Amino acid sequence: MKRNNVYYLITLLLMVCSFNAAAQQPYTEKHRPQFHFSPAAKWMNDPNGMVYHKGVYHLFYQYFPDGTKWGPMHWGHATSKDLVSWQHKPTALFPDSLGYIFSGSAVVDSLNTAGFAKNGETPLVAIFTHHSPKPELEKIKKNQYQSLAYSLDDGETWTKYEGNPVLENPGIIDFRDPKVMWHEASKKWIMTLATKDRITFYSSPNLKDWQKESEFGSKLGAHGGVWECPDLFPLDINGKQVWVLLVSINPGAPNGGSGTQYFTGAFDGKTFVPDSAQTKFIDYGTDNYAGITWSNTGDRKIFLGWMNNWQYANEVPTEAWRGAATLPRDLKLVQVNGQHYLSASPVKELDRITQTVFEKSKLNLNKEIDLSSHIANAKGQFRLDLTFNAEESFNILLSNKSGQKLTIGYDKEAKQYFIDRTQAGQSDFEAGFAKKHLAPRISVDKRIQLTLIADAASVELFADQGLTVMTDVFFPAETISILKINGPKKNKLTELTVSKIASIY
Ligand code: FRU
Repeated sequence: MKRNNVYYLITLLLMVCSFNAAAQQPYTEKHRPQFHFSPAAKWMNDPNGMVYHKGVYHLFYQYFPDGTKWGPMHWGHATSKDLVSWQHKPTALFPDSLGYIFSGSAVVDSLNTAGFAKNGETPLVAIFTHHSPKPELEKIKKNQYQSLAYSLDDGETWTKYEGNPVLENPGIIDFRDPKVMWHEASKKWIMTLATKDRITFYSSPNLKDWQKESEFGSKLGAHGGVWECPDLFPLDINGKQVWVLLVSINPGAPNGGSGTQYFTGAFDGKTFVPDSAQTKFIDYGTDNYAGITWSNTGDRKIFLGWMNNWQYANEVPTEAWRGAATLPRDLKLVQVNGQHYLSASPVKELDRITQTVFEKSKLNLNKEIDLSSHIANAKGQFRLDLTFNAEESFNILLSNKSGQKLTIGYDKEAKQYFIDRTQAGQSDFEAGFAKKHLAPRISVDKRIQLTLIADAASVELFADQGLTVMTDVFFPAETISILKINGPKKNKLTELTVSKIASIY
């Protein structure tokens, strides 16, 4: 799988030459992600308002511009043409008399259903939760309600709708994170809203008048915490349309704290009917939360999450900024043993900054394979693609000069992948951080194929074509410079590729 070196060099050159607000920052601070999105400074949490419009991917995010801990929420804004390099934009939405600007989504209102366009513009409309910090509203459980903002200049500037809020709170304490999509069959907008321990669907012809359609999930799925940040979209599998409902949950994730479960089934514009009672998670690592997909991307569904966990998000040891996003991932549906599963893989656009440095086929794992020399000048930014010809246990060791180590692997007896960050660097900021995390193997393939992507302070494991995914952050004192694989003799590596990934700054 040779990456195109000429393309890689041209992209790097363009990135260095192009004027970009981000390029003025050094972005060399300790633990600063080098090819994951992070705010130039201060706090970020959930990705919001992700919409693709006129060749540009817009990413808004929960942002507190005055501190590195969670505070009164704004929507930060960044754009990208390739999902790889990001340009920071001015803050899009500020708190106002109705409250802080909590999570939500954005759509292209090409039919001008809301009537915001006056001169033929194509409006972008953001649908978000206003969260009022007023105790009197909190007491009667009416402090979260849904509002609109619109842009008539392709997302550059935003105006709040004077009729806000458009959806009042019926008396539910957690009533937030609207994800809106156009439902072609019923020619209506559908809002998927997290309402405490369930999802409530609303519909609207114009984004302003909303009618409740149904509720889903109070007795299904994981319920160890509050439901947040849902998403609803169809995906095709074998010529059939299946609906996917993502629901973030905090706490109650498989390895503690925050995580994102999903359901598959049917949706008719009114009701979601699940096709399975099994609880499935989009990521079994601890650091992928509140993820949703970009709207207006046609059949392609691109997902991005917040690479953090509420269990320690306010304490992670970074200074200038706090929080980052996962890599953008393409979502697909796969069928295993009659069940629908999501598979996630890093977007192919990442190849533009990825350069193969070592490739080998047919290797015997009869002793440790030391790949350290191949990542010697990668600054801890690399990708490993492996195919084993048998389902056997193995370990991949990432280590540094201080002897800190992160171990990623597979346990054949338990049929589990794992990431062990017990000795991976700084962990004193939270008692539960230094743990070994487990994930079920879903695939029934006799071979094991996996992709591992490491940045300065994160690792993302896409096993079995992304059927099992784990995302973990870690904070090594020094760059990862040691990379080794070991496993039993009978476990043969049929393909091995090591690539380094360039910084986007
Ligand atoms: C999820 C969340 C959302 C909320 C936002 C506030 O991480 O709690 O439910 O809208 O963060 O910042």
